[in-house]
Amino acid sequence: MKLNTFPSAAELAAFVADALIAQIRQKPDSVICIASGNSPKLACEGFTEKAKAEGLDTSQFFFVGLDEWVGLEPGTPGSCANDFQKRLFEPLQMPSSRYHLFNGLSDDLRQECFKMDEVIRVKGGIDLMIVGIGMNGHIGFNEPGTSWNNRSHVIKLHETTTSVGQKYFQERKTLDQGITLGFAHLLAAREVILMADGMAKAEVIKAAVEGAPDEAFPATVMQLHENGMICIDAAAASLLKPII
Ligand code: F6R
Repeated sequence: MKLNTFPSAAELAAFVADALIAQIRQKPDSVICIASGNSPKLACEGFTEKAKAEGLDTSQFFFVGLDEWVGLEPGTPGSCANDFQKRLFEPLQMPSSRYHLFNGLSDDLRQECFKMDEVIRVKGGIDLMIVGIGMNGHIGFNEPGTSWNNRSHVIKLHETTTSVGQKYFQERKTLDQGITLGFAHLLAAREVILMADGMAKAEVIKAAVEGAPDEAFPATVMQLHENGMICIDAAAASLLKPII
């Protein structure tokens, strides 16, 4: 795993946007997975703008959603699906045949997990995964204690996740369960970038980078990935021990 620190969140986002551009240029039919939430927002904007400005052919890559809140109506502002719609599918005019998302409203969530695992398998695995880190160290909705062998699964969300998660919604939502890709997907992805910015993420970044790999702190899984990179701004890096 590599650690890459940038002076500002804008520079971090530009780096990740460039990584997406480079991935698609090198393999136009790449399978890409990006978290929703605040961390990748600027990078997605940078990516779609640069792709258009450079005339990059974005018509072949396939997108898989990382996770979804269970029980939200489709199109709910703040849902993961809505983020992807606004950040990628609309700007790049991607038809629904070019992506697969979890349906958090399905009455057969096990089948949703099975379908997602099948889509990823049939597409040949994920080429580039871009994830964030939650305030309890989660990635996707892989909460502390989740097995690193899991593929897609449904999970009871921790209190930290359900209370912090309210920030995405205009009105209070009942958030109880999530459906998510597992760490077997992350570990099998050809490249993974975890991005975080701001002082609020400094403690969890310290635990992810300096803590021993342990399922009790999910983001330490990044240390096991040969092609994993933790990309952070100076504020998120502020509690790390200096490298001598
Ligand atoms: C969202 C997701 C979550 C977030 C994490 C950080 O799809 O997978 O794991 O990445 O909670 O959220 P932000 O980026 O909003 O701080």
